[in-house]
This record gives sequence, C-alpha cells and structure tokens, in this order.
Amino acid sequence: MAVLVTGGAGYIGSHTAVALHEAGRKVVLLDNFDNSSPAAVDAIRALTTSDMTFVEGDLRDRSVLDHIFETHDIDEVVHFAAHKAVGESVTIPLDYYGNNLGSTIGLAGAMVEHGVRKLVFSSSCTVYGQPGTIPVTEDAPTGAESPYGWTKFMSEQILRDVAAAADLDVVLLRYFNPVGAHESGTLGEDPNGIPNNLVPYVMQVAVGRLEEVGVFGGDYNTPDGSGVRDYIHVVDLAEGHVAALDALDGSLQGACTAVNLGTGVGSSVLEVISAASDAVGAPIAYEIVDRRPGDIEQIYADPAYAKEVLGWESTRDLATMMRDHWNWQRQNPNGFGG
Ligand code: NAD
Ligand code: UFG
Repeated sequence: MAVLVTGGAGYIGSHTAVALHEAGRKVVLLDNFDNSSPAAVDAIRALTTSDMTFVEGDLRDRSVLDHIFETHDIDEVVHFAAHKAVGESVTIPLDYYGNNLGSTIGLAGAMVEHGVRKLVFSSSCTVYGQPGTIPVTEDAPTGAESPYGWTKFMSEQILRDVAAAADLDVVLLRYFNPVGAHESGTLGEDPNGIPNNLVPYVMQVAVGRLEEVGVFGGDYNTPDGSGVRDYIHVVDLAEGHVAALDALDGSLQGACTAVNLGTGVGSSVLEVISAASDAVGAPIAYEIVDRRPGDIEQIYADPAYAKEVLGWESTRDLATMMRDHWNWQRQNPNGFGG
C-alpha cells in the first residue's frame, strides 16, 4: 500500500516525503509545480529512492486523481497542495478559494469514491487568529482574517462534514511556523520573489541577496517588543505527519481530529535574528520598522494534545532550525535554481 502526498514537491511536502520513506512507507507524489520545481523532486529522489513515483498534475483535475487511485494501491493521503500567501490571498481571493477549496473538495470526493479512508490535512494556526489564551489549545475559538485563512477554516469544516457522512478518518494538523531544512542541505524552502516570511528573508540577507531585515514592530506587548511565534523545524513537522498517519490506524481511527503541531516555545523576531546570526557566524543587518497590517502580537502552541494522541513532540531547537536553514541557503543561494 502507498500514501499519496499532494503538493509533494513543496516545502513541507518534500520533507514529509523523505520522512515517510524513512518510516518504511511507499510514497506517490502529486504536484503541478505551481509553487515548486522538478529540482525538488530530484532532491527527494536523491535522498530516498530514484524510482519514487511522481505525478505531475492538478489536484482539481478529477481524471488525474482517478488515474492515481486506479493505478496505485493508495490507502492514505497527506494533503498539502494549496496556495499559501496571506497577502496575495487578499488581492486574488477567487484564486485562493478556487484552488484551496477546489482541491480539498475534489480530493475528498475521489477518496470517498475509491474507498480511501485516511486523510491528513495541512491546516494552520492562522485559524486561531490572536488567541485569548496562550499557549493555544485545540479547543480555542477559530475563525479567519484573510481569504487564505478562510480556506483553512472552511476546509476543516468540509472535512469534518465528509468524515461524519462518509466514514473518512481525518487529522487536521494545525501547523505553527515551519522553518529549517533537511540536514543534508539539499532540500529546503525556495520562495518565489521577495520572501514574505521572516526566516527566508533573514537567510537571504545573510547570503547577500537582500540588504537588511525590516522588523515589523518594536512596540508589541512582548518581552522585547517584537512579535512572538512558535517556530518549528520542518523535519519535526514532517515526522508529525508520519505519527498522524500511524494514529489514524489507532487512537484517532473513526474521527476527525484537530491537532497542533508546534514546539510550545515562543520566540521573538529579535531572538530569531540573533539565533540566525549565531548560525551564520556574522551579524545580520536589521531595522525596526512599522508593524505589518494584519499581524498578530504573539502565539505559540500547547503541544500536549499532539504528544497524547500522536505520541509526537518536537526535538529540534531554534539553533538547530537556524543551522539547517542556513546550511540549505548557503549551499543553494538561489534555491533550486542554483
Ligand atoms: P508550498 O507552496 O511549498 O507547497 C505547496 C505545493 O502544492 C506546491 O509545490 C504547489 O506547486 C502545489 N500545489 C498547489 N496547488 C496545487 C494543485 N491544485 N494541484 C497540485 N499541486 C498544487 O507550501 P508549503 O509551505 O509546503 O505548505 C504546504 C501546506 O501547508 C499548505 O496547505 C499550506 O497552506 C500549509 N501551511 C503552511 C505553512 C507555512 O508557513 N509554510 C503554515 C501553515 C500551513
Ligand atoms: N516579520 C518581520 N519581518 C519580515 C517578516 C516577518 O518582522 O520581513 C515578523 C512578523 O511580523 C511576525 C514574524 O516575523 O512577527 C513571523 O512572520 P512570518 O511572516 O514568517 O509568519 P506569520 O506568523 O506572520 O505567518 C505564518 C504563515 C501564514 C500562516 C501563519 C499562521 O506565513 O501562512 O503563519 O500559521 F497563516
């Protein structure tokens, strides 16, 4: 039997493909290269097996899914494929609703029709907004503040409804802030254009592609005034998916369950820049600038439920995240483009 990984050439999907292979699972990858490149598939194959199955196609194309389910013995799916830029989603909302909801609905329909019962879905801590209580637990109120966020909120609800109606078992994994790279330095995050996210931006400053980091706000009600997030190593996150698939055979069978994937540690923007400087071995230029509209002040996970139901917890600290992200950026200053 095999696991289908949608969005398998992307940042988190590629690391998860490697983790699934290491855990002894057979993997089929699907991606349309909308936000990734064939070089990522080559890198996955170099770390795993040269004949790992890759299908280039769009998840919204039902014939692609039917073909995959008919020609491979798929019994479980990890669904990463989505557009993910919050700001862009405000500008082109229909693209986001069309792609993210269309993919989830198409995939769930094909799974039900082909009798595939186990699904792990990429959700986000964005569904919590600014939580009233930190660390945030899975029973905190949810909602959204951007079209992207709504696609995660709505996908969660769609999957809850399908799970109840059609015997689909689902884990909704709410990721906190994934950073870092595979320790080989051959697989990592390769954002298009100027990065929106903090750590890719910091690393592009370190490698000389950008001038300095703008720290969005120095007057938040946090220990040093900059925003606080729960950064999690992408390989820890990948291993969380293996644990979630295992739990669908055990404690989470017959349910649709939301689980946080975070470390439980909040780090400020200034702490991240300092840890990155240590990893790089040189200071990273930054300047405190205005707050970014729509940003929340601080969030980090309560990871206790993940430990309880998945038997999983993160093991890699901020220094390791920065070491591995830098190792990838240093070896690939222009990402998969060379
Ligand atoms: P990514 O853009 O690197 O990977 C997503 C992949 O899906 C890309 O390779 C893209 O080409 C592919 N894709 C998109 N639409 C597709 C379609 N219709 N058919 C086939 N392939 C398609 O993003 P990522 O950082 O790896 O994120 C993976 C998932 O995790 C997404 O659902 C994202 O919303 C979610 N998530 C990411 C973060 C983060 O900070 N990276 C945080 C929380 C949640
Ligand atoms: N930041 C800066 N300068 C930058 C970029 C970011 O100071 O150039 C700050 C932000 O203000 C924030 C922190 O760094 O305090 C992290 O920002 P990111 O953009 O890296 O991450 P966010 O927490 O804002 O957003 C991420 C994902 C979203 C997702 C959200 C919740 O990018 O897709 O987490 O899961 F919705």
